Amino acid sequence: MSNHILEISDEVLESFLEKIFKTYGIDFRRYGKAHLKRRFRHRLTFAKYSSFTEMKEDVIKNKAAFDALFEDLSINVTELFRDPLFYESLHQFLVQVPEQKPLSIWISACASGEEAYSILMMMEHFKIPYERIVATDFNMQIVEKASKGILDTTYIKEYLKNLGATNFNIDFYKFFDFKDDKYHLKEQFLKKIAFATQNLMDEHHFGSFDLILCRNVLIYFEKELQNQVIDILTNSLDSEGLLCLGAKESLRFMDSYPQFRTIHQNHKIYQKK
Ligand SMILES: C[S@@+](CC[C@H](N)C(=O)[O-])C[C@H]1O[C@@H](n2cnc3c(N)ncnc32)[C@H](O)[C@@H]1O
Repeated sequence: MSNHILEISDEVLESFLEKIFKTYGIDFRRYGKAHLKRRFRHRLTFAKYSSFTEMKEDVIKNKAAFDALFEDLSINVTELFRDPLFYESLHQFLVQVPEQKPLSIWISACASGEEAYSILMMMEHFKIPYERIVATDFNMQIVEKASKGILDTTYIKEYLKNLGATNFNIDFYKFFDFKDDKYHLKEQFLKKIAFATQNLMDEHHFGSFDLILCRNVLIYFEKELQNQVIDILTNSLDSEGLLCLGAKESLRFMDSYPQFRTIHQNHKIYQKK
């Protein structure tokens, strides 16, 4: 495929995003342009379209083509105990709070659920009281997958390595059963997580939280959208509640930054004042 086919101008990109929004109600207009262009090029090559125009027309006319593109854009990469030291820092902070009330926890942008399972395992293992764990993502299919509690066996070695890199000594088999060639989160634990489809751009409807994880999703947004989402999350946190971002993200240059104190700079843990 010649390179000029892969070139996408900002104007063409913007008009396509506008059409996607009008047709399907999904708003990618304030996602980072470089990220979108990379994903569009990937889809263009992968689905063997002869031009960007052909891809645009297909996506607007054909819902299945849009669904395939949506999967490409939503990047559902995640891990069990991703960034193990983040979990150690979070645990250290939680256990030093005297007379901790049962926590209300929101795992936003949960992808296929591994982050929610990790938090649940940590809370259960250390018997840290919690009231509820809500796990959400805007990709309905991935939420459906997450709600089944099944781990992708391809990555199991990596996951066990992450778990082993914490100082937690959590027994993986206390939480997962192996059946039909897959690891299943045991029903007694799975039922403690409430899964739902939710777009971070919308005001949430789940009440207020003591701990919110929003990791590795803001990086895909433009600054203005990052600020809007952080604002929504800030309003969803009780005072003294914690907000946790991904390793490459930071609150430091966000409008809401003055409303927080930094608990751990490297592991991106912030506490609402
Ligand atoms: C790279 S994954 C991060 C998963 C997990 N938080 C982690 O750190 O391992 C990004 C997730 O953000 C979700 N996402 C992207 N835009 C979103 C939005 N506007 N609202 C909710 N979720 C969104 C994607 O569907 C994807 O599952």
